[in-house]
Amino acid sequence: MAATTQGTIRTAKGEGETVGIALLGFGTVGAEVFRLLGENADAFAHRIGGPAEIRGVAVSNVGKKPRPGVPQELLTDDARALVARDDIDLVVEVIGGIDYPRKLVLAALRAGKSVVTANKALVAAHADELAEAADASNVDLYFEAAVAAAIPVVGMLRRSLAGDQIQRISGIVNGTTNFILDAMESTGASYEEALAEATRLGYAEADPTADVEGHDAASKAAIMASLGFHTRVKFEDVHCEGITNITAEDIEAAEQAGYSIKLLAICERITDKEGKEAVNARVHPTLVAKSHPLASVSESYNAIFVEAEAAGSLMFYGNGAGGNPTASAVLGDVVGAARNIIHGGRAPGENTYANLPIASFGEVRTRYHIDMTVNDRIGVLAEIANAFSTNNVSLRTVRQEDGDDEARLVIVTHSAQEQLLADIVDQLGALPDVLAVNSVIRLGS
Ligand code: NDP
Ligand code: HSE
Repeated sequence: MAATTQGTIRTAKGEGETVGIALLGFGTVGAEVFRLLGENADAFAHRIGGPAEIRGVAVSNVGKKPRPGVPQELLTDDARALVARDDIDLVVEVIGGIDYPRKLVLAALRAGKSVVTANKALVAAHADELAEAADASNVDLYFEAAVAAAIPVVGMLRRSLAGDQIQRISGIVNGTTNFILDAMESTGASYEEALAEATRLGYAEADPTADVEGHDAASKAAIMASLGFHTRVKFEDVHCEGITNITAEDIEAAEQAGYSIKLLAICERITDKEGKEAVNARVHPTLVAKSHPLASVSESYNAIFVEAEAAGSLMFYGNGAGGNPTASAVLGDVVGAARNIIHGGRAPGENTYANLPIASFGEVRTRYHIDMTVNDRIGVLAEIANAFSTNNVSLRTVRQEDGDDEARLVIVTHSAQEQLLADIVDQLGALPDVLAVNSVIRLGS
């Protein structure tokens, strides 16, 4: 082992030597990682080139809950001390949160220990700092489980598509919100009932606000955009709207019009009129046509589309949340990192050489579906159409349902700049004959 000013460089172990693992967290994910690594110990030893042994399990409170199958002497509530132990080569962080795991992960990397984490919030907020620490110590930082759990999105972007030029990544990357929206649409469950069930099934974050407000999907979008466009995209660069404003009426109206409402993460390479490239990443509820494959992604499943210059369109589908699927991704990373600890070498890291500017959400082109209640009298439609035409935005469809003195008007626009559409909605809201703008939902994937 050699200490440098920035980190600690460890020498490779030899074939057959044991890799000592610290498991930080024994919740939904950690418990499954522990179980699967124990049950398949021989297979893991063959795949790695030596046994992988969990030498300590950190939890918040050792006596708080039963930890089936975990010898008492492995348990500790002092994660820092566990990470610092000399017999630990690899740290698996499945605690969650940002500040505390950041300290633990940095301490591990600086001490020359590779890290596997499922923590998208941490990676999206501190990727630069973590990558620098891993580089300085020449160790691995793996985070496959951070995006869409069992679907190998990170490996695909980091390795498989490293030779291609990615144009767009879009999809459903949060299992909890997909579960909620699907249950509201297919069973008529209330938002609250569906959220409680998603939490019970272990899909939701410790604080489900991160799911329903879109923050979890935004972290994943930041990670995907960074890897896909070789540009650092941070959590705060991602425009984020969650599903808390989506009502049963919105779901029903979408259904009647032939759409499903999905929370999509969209990462795009945008080229302006002068040919200058930029990157945009965003998360918002989106109307997806029932005929589109994303509309049939049900329960907590995730699906991701990648459009690349040479590969064309690719779609990835699978389990995006839950203990077992997430443990699968974590353990794939454990095998990769442990192999490198035994044989030497490192996994391909991130490369942000392109360093493209981040385009603001206002610059993005979208289509709007606007649902309004208006006075049912002559001239109202012309007044409303005028707000669009004076701003040079064309309408795709206009549908009216008559009430007594009021009418419901549903307008679908053609593609236009987001900021322009947002301004038009403000103008509509100020018209005396527009009694309410009931909902504004973007269209398309
Ligand atoms: P849980 O809340 O189920 O488990 C968290 C674990 O961390 C618990 O064992 C808890 O201890 C422990 N812990 C909390 N604070 C500390 C602390 N200060 N020191 C030591 N241990 C602590 O979380 P999940 O397993 O669901 O998620 C873990 C990570 O995986 C998160 O980053 C999450 O975003 C990510 N992830 C989760 C997925 C999922 O479907 N659940 C999918 C993909 C990623 P105790 O048991 O004592 O409470
Ligand atoms: N809470 C997350 C979700 C877990 O619902 O998708 C998987 O990252």
